[in-house]
Amino acid sequence: MMSTNVLKCNPASISFSPDSNVPNVSCAETKHALHVASRHLLDQLEPVVIPTETVYGLAASALSASAVSTIYTTKGRPSDNPLIIHISSREMLSTLHHPEFSVPWTYRALMKSFWPGPLTLLFPANRAVIPSSVTANLPTVAIRMPSHPIARALIAIANTPLAAPSANSSGKPSPTHAEHVRRDLDGRVSIILDGGPCTVGVESTVVDGLSEDGHIRVLRPGGVTVEELRRILEEEAPSPSDIPRVIVHGHDFRDQTMEAAPTTPGMKYRHYSPSVPVVLLRTTSARPVEIAPVPVPQYIATIMTNLAHLSRPPRIGLLLTSDSVLSSSLFPEDSSQWRRYSLGVKAEPSVIAQRLFDGLLSLERDSVDLILVEEIPLDHEGLAIMNRISKAAGETVWLAV
Ligand code: TXA
Ligand code: MG
Repeated sequence: MMSTNVLKCNPASISFSPDSNVPNVSCAETKHALHVASRHLLDQLEPVVIPTETVYGLAASALSASAVSTIYTTKGRPSDNPLIIHISSREMLSTLHHPEFSVPWTYRALMKSFWPGPLTLLFPANRAVIPSSVTANLPTVAIRMPSHPIARALIAIANTPLAAPSANSSGKPSPTHAEHVRRDLDGRVSIILDGGPCTVGVESTVVDGLSEDGHIRVLRPGGVTVEELRRILEEEAPSPSDIPRVIVHGHDFRDQTMEAAPTTPGMKYRHYSPSVPVVLLRTTSARPVEIAPVPVPQYIATIMTNLAHLSRPPRIGLLLTSDSVLSSSLFPEDSSQWRRYSLGVKAEPSVIAQRLFDGLLSLERDSVDLILVEEIPLDHEGLAIMNRISKAAGETVWLAV
């Protein structure tokens, strides 16, 4: 066990001048925290927890095999699950991809629109520079430029790219507040930079645009939506016949080898699961003909029977949108037995994305015995939200409403 220090940082105190990547940090406490973290990364070759705009990350020097190995041991992460490298400038990017790789127009367009931001792109890896543990021996490397001022400033000050998975024990929901990380990794990390809550709330979109057929493959839906990717590629295509197809893994294509080697998050390993069972409540999506929808009162009775072995009244967590049909009169109001966490309104999927992991972790913290999560429409951030919920849920129930 080591002692864990939480260092407060103020993201608003950091600015970048347009023509340089050197951050200007006006708050003394933040400046000190960034220097302590930078020294720890470079001298101790140990990970530091950093805020990013998506989720908190467990960051270590991407160019040191020994630093990278501590990421895997700290998280308990299987070694065949590759990491994303975080950079603060385009100069850093060019050192990491294969020297002969010429960046295609699709990547230039996506980087111009979404970097810095929640988009990860696959590149042919420069194997002379990147330890094989970062890429889990794959020929490609996943790279993104985070927009969070603390993350960007730390990478620039340390002047080294940082490999960073989400800062949670492997299999758990990703942390979106420093407090989520402290509860999970207390005693396993020395430094947590607390930059407040993450604004995006789900991880970056992982995109592979390297394949021969020219299609843009979304391996993991995330903070940049498929609609946004399509719009930019349409706008920036040299001619209409150049517009590529944007296809989403699990919806538009599947890839058996990819699913066996865990290059698509959550395919091979358990993901996003709190320590209590999660049930996905479907109300709107297409239901297989053989499944009859269950009326809500009947479903509640079933839950109570299933939890009757507890020697006390069960506690049930409800993760619902505030304007859902289920919210109104179908489920009991917030009480000591029915714990409600509101995801916001259905029309604001970006808010739902921001609240999702906090909802799962807060209900878990509330010692509920079961978490019921409502289905969200698949457009915009909904695709990433449902990807995470489906992986967290051990069971799906169709409700009659
Ligand atoms: O928003 C994010 O991406 C956050 C923050 C911390 O930046 N990071 C994150 O990392 O979500 P992680 O390790 O939890 O998920 C990264 C996923 C891996 O599970 C892996 O499947 C995929 O990115 N990945 C990494 N390298 C890959 C590669 N070469 N080919 C295909 N997929 C890759
Ligand atoms: Mg993760």
